[in-house]
Amino acid sequence: MTHHSHALNTETPASPGLDGIIVATTRLSEVRGKEGHLILAGRAIEDLAGFVSFEEGVRHLWKETALPAGPTLFRDLAAARQAAWTAIPAMAALRSRSPILLLQTGLAGIQVPDVLHPAIAMTAAFPVLVAAAARLAEGQQPIPPDPGLGSAHDFLRMLDGTTPPMWKVEALNRYLVTIIDHGLNASTFAARVIASTQAGFQDAVIGGLAALKGPLHGGAPGPVLDMLDAIGTSGHPKQWIEAELAAGHRLMGFGHRIYRARDPRADVLKEGVRRLPKTERLALAEVVETAALAALRNRKPDRPLETNVEFYTAILLDGIGLERTLFTPVFAMGRVAGWCAHAAEQQAEGKLIRPKSLYAGPSPCGNDRNGTRA
Ligand code: ACO
Repeated sequence: MTHHSHALNTETPASPGLDGIIVATTRLSEVRGKEGHLILAGRAIEDLAGFVSFEEGVRHLWKETALPAGPTLFRDLAAARQAAWTAIPAMAALRSRSPILLLQTGLAGIQVPDVLHPAIAMTAAFPVLVAAAARLAEGQQPIPPDPGLGSAHDFLRMLDGTTPPMWKVEALNRYLVTIIDHGLNASTFAARVIASTQAGFQDAVIGGLAALKGPLHGGAPGPVLDMLDAIGTSGHPKQWIEAELAAGHRLMGFGHRIYRARDPRADVLKEGVRRLPKTERLALAEVVETAALAALRNRKPDRPLETNVEFYTAILLDGIGLERTLFTPVFAMGRVAGWCAHAAEQQAEGKLIRPKSLYAGPSPCGNDRNGTRA
């Protein structure tokens, strides 16, 4: 049987990647790509990250929504970490070494008590489940949460069972606030699509995590470190970068869909990195950033390609001692608050997200695109 393709409808062209299409109104964050600014619920990211704890960042964001954002939020999140502990047996039964797979299983396994707002349950769950996933992947027993601590502090304690130094807690708080929300990025859009069906916060968060894990989104910082390792081993940063670009490969941690100027989050995190104890990798990162930007400008003079958030995420998270397999789960630990806020906004709007596609496949044999016999 022969099939005939439909002629493409040129009146309403498809928008691959939804580039430039506005599909929601939000009070949560504004990404000003041309200027390189990020506004988080009325405050520039440079004035927020590094100055407030993760919990204060969540309150700042959630007060723009119907989510609970009162003065008890710190206590509520801490208490809700206990509810997440109920998901540990399901994670342990999985016998996987992949933190993301363990985390996905844990999130699906949480039974949210009626008295707990599901957005609080989901946001509180991440420190517990990510730390547990890391330990299970290493064949170690998870450590239960301590409701007296903040999320970042408790996460680092649950990870290795010791009291973390304050510089690590501060660096992690800075990171979690920096990446808490960022316009309609792919994972946030996925969460909003799910919420638009009136599915719950748990579903929206699980969907957001699945979208986040790809290397073009939240999966990039691990490869940034792989790249730094390879460059460090080669001993010739400039040559390595040139060869990589000549081979048509992308440099991880550079370029962005929206920013045409420097990603402001890269600077906020670079400042966090400056406060860490000095390491050889940090020195290498600075050399690589300079060489990469020069090579990209040279190769693509018409396309501004700048350092993105993932570059300094990798250096910062490595600097506080996190394994690279944990980078994406820790990204999600901060971004979950943004997913929940967007899900709440979307649910309040009450409109199902249902775009159209342009059919370019075969038509039924012998029919033209109006359904009449040719
Ligand atoms: N290294 C080398 N070249 C690049 C890079 C890069 N990092 N990024 C883009 N380019 C080039 C592309 O090859 C393309 O060139 P061409 O026109 O000759 O084919 C051109 O710039 C445009 O690239 P697109 O993929 O169309 O740009 P898009 O806006 O869709 O991509 C993306 C953005 C996916 C982030 C891209 O820059 C990339 O792959 N970067 C590396 C991965 C990375 O760092 N991801 C994390 C992003 S931050 C985040 O998600 C939180």
